Amino acid sequence: MKTENTVWHEQHIDKQQRAELKQQKPCLLWYTGLSGSGKSTIANAVDAMLFERSCHSYLLDGDNVRHGLNGDLGFSDVDRVENIRRISEVAKLFVDAGLIVSTAFISPFRADRALAESKLAPAEFIEVFIDTPIEICEQRDPKGLYKLARAGEIKDFTGIDSAYEAPEKAQIHINTDGKSIEQCAQQVVDYLAEHGIIAKSKAASFQ
Ligand code: ADX
Repeated sequence: MKTENTVWHEQHIDKQQRAELKQQKPCLLWYTGLSGSGKSTIANAVDAMLFERSCHSYLLDGDNVRHGLNGDLGFSDVDRVENIRRISEVAKLFVDAGLIVSTAFISPFRADRALAESKLAPAEFIEVFIDTPIEICEQRDPKGLYKLARAGEIKDFTGIDSAYEAPEKAQIHINTDGKSIEQCAQQVVDYLAEHGIIAKSKAASFQ
């Protein structure tokens, strides 16, 4: 716990310098959407496209982070809030390191996403709503979890017996139905190029 004896220590190298070295603007792509909506898949594809453009990026993925840092958390509302709070803090550190960070978590509650946003400068937080209707997520059911949730074998499953609050004004809104993974990922990369976060084209250098 933080006490009055916990003092902030300024570092010599700041975010701006780290970003300049990497020739990019650091930011946080905050993916949100139901389980099976395609968050991790699209975020992975974007990450690969950024890597190809020599951008310095990193992806924090819900399922993976729950194997380590957040391995002690379940899916009650309280645990989900703590899950997102920790991720917001980690993502903030990664942005401070000059990276283009992606987080792929259901992050079902608006207030928690707003908390993540409040930790960064306004232009640094980019909410990406992976808008796939629950019927389609359930049809895909890549991990067989919807089936288990419907059978009552998983409790507090998002969209079934736990709430999902869709974003009202996400910077990037992707309807995945009928689109390829590449088309969805391209929509994110185009946004970054149009907003001067990465170079306009693969060949162009960052200004
Ligand atoms: S969040 O709600 O706290 O943001 P997070 O993205 O970390 O969730 O984890 C979601 C993943 O955990 C799902 O994609 C799914 O694979 C798995 N999972 C296991 N139990 C549940 C549950 N009860 N509700 C939602 N996802 C679950």
